[in-house]
Amino acid sequence: MAGEELVRMENINKFYGRIHALRDVSLRIDRHEVVGLLGDNGAGKSTLIKVLSGAVPLTSGDIFVKGKKVEIKRTTDAIANGIETIYQDSALVPQLSIARNLFLGREPVKGPAFLNRLDHETMGAVARQLLKKVGITKDIPPETPITALSGGERQAVAIARAMQFDSDLIILDEPTNNLGVAETQGVLRFVREARDTGHSCIFIAHNIHHVFQVVDRIMVMRGGKLVADDIDPKKTTIEQVERVITGEHLLH
Ligand SMILES: Nc1ncnc2c1ncn2[C@@H]1O[C@H](COP(=O)(O)OP(=O)(O)O)[C@@H](O)[C@H]1O
Ligand SMILES: [Mg+2]
Repeated sequence: MAGEELVRMENINKFYGRIHALRDVSLRIDRHEVVGLLGDNGAGKSTLIKVLSGAVPLTSGDIFVKGKKVEIKRTTDAIANGIETIYQDSALVPQLSIARNLFLGREPVKGPAFLNRLDHETMGAVARQLLKKVGITKDIPPETPITALSGGERQAVAIARAMQFDSDLIILDEPTNNLGVAETQGVLRFVREARDTGHSCIFIAHNIHHVFQVVDRIMVMRGGKLVADDIDPKKTTIEQVERVITGEHLLH
């Protein structure tokens, strides 16, 4: 691993009351790297991602982005540092259109700013481009409300949003849960494409096979600790990784 460092977390601890959810976790993500994060239920994966995306405050430890120490206290801090997170039930507003969701909170305006008139033309044009980029080949008008989309199409919109603001790091926490086969393939394709378009990615999924298909490197958490951070999916079997997840490899 000799790439250019994008994000580094050092000695991160997180307590929820008396529950020690993260125990001295240190890790590094490089540019153009797609990293899989695996671990059993309750291992601390989502908590780690929430700390990095500003959804929950850390108890102790440091976060560095491009070598500079940063304070990530809320999601806007993470976004300002180029970190976008896509959760399982992604943060789209179902009643609003695809175009509006792509620009949520950052809508372009037309005319004098005080009139606050949204530039629907620009939003529509950019939305069409983005949808094509994330592999939605069906001609879905950008005015379509999110409620009219399938699960996979919704994920695609969420990913398109992360891509358009040129986030450096896109985090996906269990994005394929509840998706059909074709939709899942779509999400996996987006993850692969994220790297090709210059992003880094942390990919959490229940299905180890999915992770093996798209990542460069695998990290494993167990009991709040990062117990492996450099598993090469090309040189390791799924069974070996499963033993690291359960801790069974320690018994021999
Ligand atoms: N909001 C919370 N309040 C209290 N405990 C929590 C909260 N969120 C997670 N935990 C606990 O922290 C630990 C790690 O959970 P989590 O990060 O969700 O694991 P994973 O995503 O790997 O399944 C678990 O013991 C879980 O019960
Ligand atoms: Mg989780």
